[in-house]
Amino acid sequence: MRHFLTLSDCTSDEIHHLLRRAGELKAIHQRGELHQPLLGRVLGMIFEKASTRTRVSFESGMAQLGGHAIFLAPEHSQLGRGEPIADTARVLARMTDAVMIRTFGHERIEQFAEHCSVPVINGLSDQSHPCQLLADMQTFIEHRGPIAGRRVAWVGDANNMCTSWIEAAGMLGFELRIAAPEGYRPSARTLELGGNWVSLHDDPRDAAAAADLVTTDVWASMGQEEEQAQRERAFADFCVNDSVMAVAAQEAIFMHCLPAHREEEVSTSVLEGGQSVVWDEAENRLHAQKALLEWLFAGQ
Ligand code: CP
Ligand code: NVA
Repeated sequence: MRHFLTLSDCTSDEIHHLLRRAGELKAIHQRGELHQPLLGRVLGMIFEKASTRTRVSFESGMAQLGGHAIFLAPEHSQLGRGEPIADTARVLARMTDAVMIRTFGHERIEQFAEHCSVPVINGLSDQSHPCQLLADMQTFIEHRGPIAGRRVAWVGDANNMCTSWIEAAGMLGFELRIAAPEGYRPSARTLELGGNWVSLHDDPRDAAAAADLVTTDVWASMGQEEEQAQRERAFADFCVNDSVMAVAAQEAIFMHCLPAHREEEVSTSVLEGGQSVVWDEAENRLHAQKALLEWLFAGQ
């Protein structure tokens, strides 16, 4: 039985397997073939933060694989009335075959997993967003081939997405160039996850120079709403716009996990432009997570 709390819960070989399988499942889906290995299986989904893509991709994914997903929000479950996370974990493990959880502190997911005898999937924590990285790597491979040895530029906050990118760079072996203002850079401990593959830059144009992929995310993540104004000031020079894309490789693509704030972290021209693959990226959440679900359920 395996959990998927961070990318490094898998080996690099297992990540490569999931990415290959995600492509196969996408092709099966596009041919309109039924593929239902999870008939009768149930995924519990706890959302302590908002979601569009994560909820719909897991729910659709389980339905397409022949299973079922149950949505739990704190305001409509006993979690919101103070039932301990460890108790919820033990109960859900008796009634479902796997649980996805989206929450604030990563330690809450770890605590849940510690008490849960079925696989637990991190659907985003303040620390990381590994499911999004599966979809992002699938999207890069789909458009540009293997990501190993390529150059990726991350422009913006050292948030959950950035940490998962650092982890992915270390595991799959690609260069990750991070541009962030002082005070919003990854900690030395987080940087260690990426080894020698990661470098820090002051200017988004330095990070994006000759990059094969430029990616960014919101300046204020869920839970940081009160810091919005302060972050707008700190990140004012960190918008991925046409001048940033101009220094990237000619064939560079642009990604964003979404939701996006136009004219903040990305210009409308880049988000809606010809180099943007954000809609493929969003769709691939479905296929990448189906590969993950198939793999986790098979290991039980
Ligand atoms: N990218 C992502 O996780 O989107 P949601 O917050 O809509 O799930
Ligand atoms: N960094 C963002 C990602 C949303 C999918 C957040 O945590 O709000």
